[in-house]
Amino acid sequence: MIKKIYVNSIIPKMAVDSAFLIENPTLRTGKNNKYIACSISDNTGKISCKIWGQYNSGACDIEEVFNALAENEGQIFRISGKADKYNNDLNINVNDGIEYLKNPVDIKKITPSDYIYSPANIKENRDKILKLCESVKNRGLKDLLQTVIKKSEGFFEKPAAKSRHHDYTGGLCEHTLEVAEISLSIGRNLAGINLNYDILIAGAILHDIGKCQSFDKKGLYYAPNPSYSLLGHITPAMQTLSRYRAFVDEGTYLELLHIIQSHHGEHGETRPQTPEAWIVHFADNISATLHEISEDLKPAERGELLWGKRMDGFVFKSDSYEENSEKVNSSESSKKDMTTLDCFNSE
Ligand SMILES: [Fe+2]
Ligand SMILES: [Fe+2]
Repeated sequence: MIKKIYVNSIIPKMAVDSAFLIENPTLRTGKNNKYIACSISDNTGKISCKIWGQYNSGACDIEEVFNALAENEGQIFRISGKADKYNNDLNINVNDGIEYLKNPVDIKKITPSDYIYSPANIKENRDKILKLCESVKNRGLKDLLQTVIKKSEGFFEKPAAKSRHHDYTGGLCEHTLEVAEISLSIGRNLAGINLNYDILIAGAILHDIGKCQSFDKKGLYYAPNPSYSLLGHITPAMQTLSRYRAFVDEGTYLELLHIIQSHHGEHGETRPQTPEAWIVHFADNISATLHEISEDLKPAERGELLWGKRMDGFVFKSDSYEENSEKVNSSESSKKDMTTLDCFNSE
């Protein structure tokens, strides 16, 4: 099937009929019937999609399609529907097009890289993270950091979230690098504050390492597994680090664990209690919040104030807003990286 329409060209009221990757299908119950909520994506972006079915579709018809989507998670399907704007977000509604959702498009007839959304430059981000690991002076901590990364399958390719911020292929690695670089920048711009830079770098790089256990590769995307919501990502990080406890002395190990445990700040179970833990928390917040507001502003017109779903509050697009051409370029280069993704997989 020829890919005719891309996510970034979809506007409200547009009739859409093209192939897309379906992500995170969930069966929901509406006022009159069941429906399926999911996201559809290609290499230009991701938008939400609701599959309502035809006027005479019954709950069994919707369930049948949901089962087909669940069995073929991460596959490409023909989406035929109409775009609208709901709660300030673009959305595709599928009615008659439900007929095309019983089977995926033949994988041999598509180009997989057309369907993998990643604005991240995975290779560059990976190289920068590995260079930061190399800069750690404490030998044991450096070994721990490098070993954990090597053993954490998919660290460079997995997303950082199902939705909200960095929710795309390579998002976890991009977010991690941002947190590490922001942490270092905060540290270097503070006068008279004593910091342990080894702990700061290691804590920043490992703060979300538990997310590697939250996603499994399904077809062309990384699907959240039950531990994503049942465990979150701090407990799995603790489990992972406990295997490498012997690499460092007790004090270093405890401080490292403390950064991971407290990185959600005031609202987490443990409040940060070291300067390094506060810095990683602030850096995490900066990276996450600015990506969320930037996503929320995508559908806004210049000068428009709207309710941002991710920010859960009002967001404003300035009159002087300009598209970031740098991001577009990095998106282009990431497409090339997709062909070599497999070489990043840790054993
Ligand atoms: Fe986190
Ligand atoms: Fe984070």
